[in-house]
Amino acid sequence: MRLPRFVVTAGPTREHLDPVRFLSNPSTGKMGFAVAAEAAGRGCETILVSGPVALKTPAGVKRVDVVSAREMCAAVKEAVKGAPAVLVATAAVADWRPAECAGRKLKKREMSGTLRLVRNPDILKTVKGVRKIGFAAETGAPEREAARKCREKKLEFVVANDVTEKGAGFGCDTNRVKFVFPDGGVREFPLMSKRLVARRIVDEVLRA
Ligand code: PMT
Repeated sequence: MRLPRFVVTAGPTREHLDPVRFLSNPSTGKMGFAVAAEAAGRGCETILVSGPVALKTPAGVKRVDVVSAREMCAAVKEAVKGAPAVLVATAAVADWRPAECAGRKLKKREMSGTLRLVRNPDILKTVKGVRKIGFAAETGAPEREAARKCREKKLEFVVANDVTEKGAGFGCDTNRVKFVFPDGGVREFPLMSKRLVARRIVDEVLRA
């Protein structure tokens, strides 16, 4: 059987309003790097599209560094070309960006106190013709929202995590996840290392 190419997004995006100020979130990239390490370790060609993080590239992984959601979207479109691919979207992508980005540091007196935002592209919705696995970072019972995202973004399944739970979500080395399928089916896992979560995701992808 020919193994698919894994394209994994990881980390946060940064949406600049000037060269030194940006909107972002606390993603460290640990979850995405674990998925990329696992996929490469299983012999799959693996491309990791990462926002700004402080992690080493796993062995056997091709890494593409990006900053903004628009850059991440363009890099993913490029990465999925030319081979049957599976996109695993672990990145915490900013849904909005400042309407304008100044080319130099803004002076305090030039800032009005109001920031106008515009929507970023939804990478999972934009990228077509590949198998897609999403993540859902929720605060509180994530299944319903995850099932909605799964259907709306035409995903094989969503890996839902409650980011308010201790040892789950942003920054830690562990996660507690549920796989939520488009038909509403849910597979629940105990708290485990992100590497083990990654193994379960890759198992599910390669089983199908
Ligand atoms: O990086 P870590 O510190 O290890 O933290 C891991 C994590 C908490 C970031 C990860 O486990 C996680 O939950 N990632 C998804 C975070 C998120 O942004 O979820 P969301 O519900 O906003 O987005 C849903 C899905 O759509 C995600 O797969 C996301 O990558 C994707 N998306 C979102 C917005 C956008 N513009 N384009 C997208 O493709």
